[in-house]
Amino acid sequence: MSLFTFLFAHEQSSLNTNIDLLLNSSLMRSRRMSKELVDYITQYLGSIRERRVIPDVKPGYMKELLPDTAPTEPEDWESIFKDIERVIMPGVVHWQSPHMHAYYPSLTSWPSMLGDMLADAINCVGFTWASSPACTELEMNVMDWLCKALGLPSFFLHYHPDSRGGGILQSTVSESTLVALLAARKDKMLQLRPELEQDVDDSVLNSRLVAYASDQAHSSVEKAGLISLVKIRFLPTDEQLSLRGDTLKQAIQEDRRRGLVPFMLCVTLGTTGVCAFDNLPELGPVCAEEGLWLHVDAAYAGSAYFCPELRWSLEGIEFADSFVFNPSKWMMVHFDCTAFWVKDKYKLQQTFTVDPVYLRHENSHAATDFMHWQIPLSRRFRSLKLWFVMRSFGLKNLQAHIRHVSGYQFPSCKECKEFVRDSFYVSQLYVYLVSPGD
Ligand SMILES: Cc1ncc(COP(=O)(O)O)c(C=O)c1O
Repeated sequence: MSLFTFLFAHEQSSLNTNIDLLLNSSLMRSRRMSKELVDYITQYLGSIRERRVIPDVKPGYMKELLPDTAPTEPEDWESIFKDIERVIMPGVVHWQSPHMHAYYPSLTSWPSMLGDMLADAINCVGFTWASSPACTELEMNVMDWLCKALGLPSFFLHYHPDSRGGGILQSTVSESTLVALLAARKDKMLQLRPELEQDVDDSVLNSRLVAYASDQAHSSVEKAGLISLVKIRFLPTDEQLSLRGDTLKQAIQEDRRRGLVPFMLCVTLGTTGVCAFDNLPELGPVCAEEGLWLHVDAAYAGSAYFCPELRWSLEGIEFADSFVFNPSKWMMVHFDCTAFWVKDKYKLQQTFTVDPVYLRHENSHAATDFMHWQIPLSRRFRSLKLWFVMRSFGLKNLQAHIRHVSGYQFPSCKECKEFVRDSFYVSQLYVYLVSPGD
């Protein structure tokens, strides 16, 4: 009998008791199922090193294991649970295995998983402050914690008397780089408008813009160009695979002579191929002189900045307009979690603000509404997992974790430097941070 028929088959007087009974038994079932799954996860992670990392399956393997259509009748939890091992696990790459050395680390931890469990239970959709104040406020506070812990400039802080900036959690670095590019484009177009004698369509201005990145930059930069229809020039790097100030200057001069308008540089700190670092101290001043938005992509290497001795490659960060890294790579916060800061939040808001009446609230002008800082409207309560991780480990243990991993892999920085050079042609290979002075 469905809940609907059940309710109507009973007298009003017994209704509440029956609903209570139903709810209670359903709660008990949910509790049993949840415990079973948590036990399974504990067992899975505890014995993961015994599993084969890369699955031995061929494309389409799952089609034979599943029926063609979804079940009409509800299935019991036991049969669904059994299918995790039968259907899912044979096709899983075990990224958390200590034997996994492909792509890049994608570390998780129990505090992170528990944070997301709670977020899933709350399941708020925090697009505005009013849609769930704790969701917005925890994110602002935790992003300030993280900004300070990495030694980033105070102009990225939400809560600082001289700051116009702040941090937000996005889903990926790719999305954040696109957001930075769109904000930089809008800013440049607004600067260009008063200089024009006639009203020119935005599409005409767009066609004159050009952005830069090194030839080692991640493909997400190219993708941001594809989506925005903005030209991106990928500039040559030196023998350390690092983009230099003079190369950028020369490209800007050439493009200005061609009638183009340079508007943005994406610097990479820790490239995907060999973890090379663009020369921020040289590039920063060029961006400032030439009026370019400086976006810094530290996707993987950013977690290293927990350790003050690894911050040498952050020199010049005071010139940045935006900075992004993935706590979901090396910081034991699981995917998805991307930390993105901007120096001037109003430049984001002037790019993304829409104002439908159904999203207004009485604190619209006093509160931060993150829907104006991103592409989607809806957003998850991602900051809970970051909060749980930072509190459970403390900065001390997060630093110890970074030092352990880098020290364990590469005991000598000199070796490391040679390794970087020798690995030039090995794609998808990450190496750890080397100090130029070592
Ligand atoms: C330097 C760099 N930037 C961007 C990305 C893309 O990150 P995401 O998957 O968060 O978009 C990567 C991923 O490996 C990367 O190494």
